[in-house]
Amino acid sequence: MLDLVTVRAGLAEHYDLAPSLDLAEATKDIYARMDRVVTPADWAIYAPYVVAINTLKKKRGAVILAHNYMTPDIYHGVADFVGDSLQLAIKAVEVEEDVIVQCGVHFMAETSKILNPAKTVLMPDMEAGCSLADSITAAGIEQMRAKYPGAPVVTYVNTTAEVKAASDICCTSSNAAQIVAAQDSDTVIMTPDKYLAQNVAQQVPGKRIVWWDGACIVHERYTAQDLIEFREWNPGTRIIAHPECPPDVVAEADFSGSTSGIISYVEREKPQKAMLVTECSMASNISDALPEVDFVGPCNMCPFMKKITLEKVLYSLHTMTTPVEVDKAVAEKAKLAVQRMIDLSKQLGI
Ligand code: 13P
Ligand code: SF4
Repeated sequence: MLDLVTVRAGLAEHYDLAPSLDLAEATKDIYARMDRVVTPADWAIYAPYVVAINTLKKKRGAVILAHNYMTPDIYHGVADFVGDSLQLAIKAVEVEEDVIVQCGVHFMAETSKILNPAKTVLMPDMEAGCSLADSITAAGIEQMRAKYPGAPVVTYVNTTAEVKAASDICCTSSNAAQIVAAQDSDTVIMTPDKYLAQNVAQQVPGKRIVWWDGACIVHERYTAQDLIEFREWNPGTRIIAHPECPPDVVAEADFSGSTSGIISYVEREKPQKAMLVTECSMASNISDALPEVDFVGPCNMCPFMKKITLEKVLYSLHTMTTPVEVDKAVAEKAKLAVQRMIDLSKQLGI
């Protein structure tokens, strides 16, 4: 476990990280991307970290890939590329830098490492996990294969390298329906997210989809009743749900898509009021660019994504920790499943 006392003492020896109005002023162009959601007082606290990270990043020849659920200080302040799981996996292959700092959860860093075995992929906090990744092991995949012989296994990227290695192809929330539809089999096994599988089953009625009993602790907390009541109290609100939500929640929503799908939808439609039925940072990250949209309603926080902070990102770059390692044989097999997904997505124009 990362010991924050050690982290802080280590950083204090090398950086002046005291809140600074001067640095806040010097970085006002960066602040302008988040000034609706971050107070000037907080920016004076963040600015020294942002400056230190951006300087050190260049010195280390590193690139920061950040998921859409990162907080605005990371998303707008230090990330070189932001996106959903599919976009980050594709970007991990395209970047030229030898060091990738993954601001997201562990499976995302592992995916980057699987695709780039020669690169150093750093996780600012190895405890940033995922309830879906924790819900299944490679033995679970074998159990499903034994139960449904011959059926291809489509595994969500929110899994460990071992689970990917035991699967036929991966998917993300932005390509799941198309990947499943493209399988040459009437029955398709989807792991580990039962709700994503049930939502895909609605979109691909021609297939018999069977699933593992996993769920996301953030999205499973929403109920259809929450949405019905929210709509009654706030008429005219456009409700947009991530497909990790239960199917009755998705059915109550006006649109469902991956995190980047949600952003594109709001950018395109510019509804007066929008409720994003997903992780809390999503609305914060896009609200400055969309001042005409009023983001309303409750959101749920992902405790794993929130383990990644500016302080830990700086420490990670300073100490070059913690590099993600994947067993070579496992990585080679897992890469096949991830690469099949990337290739099929490109072929399908996703
Ligand atoms: P996206 O691929 O839609 O970004 O989802 C990743 C995730 O973990 C959502 O909970
Ligand atoms: Fe995993 Fe859910 Fe957190 Fe995404 S939001 S990382 S699926 S626990």
